Amino acid sequence: MGQVTIRGLNHRYKTGVQALRDVNLDIGAGIFGLLGPNGAGKTTMIRILITLLKPTDGRVEVDGLEIGGHRGEIRRRIGYLPQEFSTFSRLKTWEFLDYIARLRAIGPKSRRRALVEKVLEDVGLYEARDRRAMKLSGGMKRRLGIAQTLLGDPDILVIDEPTVGLDPEERVRFRNLLSDLARRDKVILLSTHIVGDISSTCSHIALLREGRVAFDGPPEDLTARARGRTWKTTVAAMDLDGIKSRYSVISTVPSNGGFEVRLVAGRFDDGPAEAVEPNLEDAYVDFMRSTDESPESGSAGEGGW
Ligand SMILES: Nc1ncnc2c1ncn2[C@@H]1O[C@H](COP(=O)(O)OP(=O)(O)OP(=O)(O)O)[C@@H](O)[C@H]1O
Ligand SMILES: [Mg+2]
Repeated sequence: MGQVTIRGLNHRYKTGVQALRDVNLDIGAGIFGLLGPNGAGKTTMIRILITLLKPTDGRVEVDGLEIGGHRGEIRRRIGYLPQEFSTFSRLKTWEFLDYIARLRAIGPKSRRRALVEKVLEDVGLYEARDRRAMKLSGGMKRRLGIAQTLLGDPDILVIDEPTVGLDPEERVRFRNLLSDLARRDKVILLSTHIVGDISSTCSHIALLREGRVAFDGPPEDLTARARGRTWKTTVAAMDLDGIKSRYSVISTVPSNGGFEVRLVAGRFDDGPAEAVEPNLEDAYVDFMRSTDESPESGSAGEGGW
């Protein structure tokens, strides 16, 4: 199974900060990307989901169970990998997992050993099983984090900021691991602000902004909105700062003494530009900026609206 339903979810911290505002989401099998800038409410939503935080208001169901009344059961169904997962264990990698399995009362020993071998293979750490957990690389530790959540065979995996600090090769491996898990009908909720990490794997994304769901749908729908609004142009070095102040610049690459600039805007008035096919990152930046109504954010002057 694996289905999370969120209705009318609000959360206000004691400090008065309204972290979530009327959030409604349906999260099913596959990879669901939760995107949003710092402070948008991603971790608050995740903490509510895994029953670490009681919401001010609203209803959350996991596989039809209201989370408030079923905390033990919910925690068994959800595997949670916090952003800070790290291990300083001196145990060997397989011993570490065996130890976690024992803590969760998985037995007898023969079954536990078989399970540990299986999750080691699942996350590509079988070859490293005899290395000390604390000596694994950052990326391997992230995979060990996934391995320990898999020991309980959860229907739902909740992962906060998975790839910070990983090299590109490890990021790709991590992404592939999540795709493999998603193919087994698991729900994977992936929170990040690195748009590139989720673009190729997510079947569904939600953008949170100031506690509200600003967008909810397949990534292609978001990308489609930036079509005809994503440009590539060449800018002389002396003009670069001006362009950056007037447009939302995605990237600048030095080229022939000037810069090749990729940007999003309703239209480009500063010389010739080529419309290019948007990717999810372009679309995210364009969406967040062009739909932002808060007064302090009207910086990029855009002629097209
Ligand atoms: N324990 C807390 N007490 C009071 N306010 C909090 C607490 N935790 C978070 N907040 C506030 O709630 C809002 C949402 O924070 P949250 O951590 O959910 O955002 P986030 O999307 O996870 O951000 P980030 O990308 O930086 O991790 C922010 O304004 C934050 O300052
Ligand atoms: Mg967070």
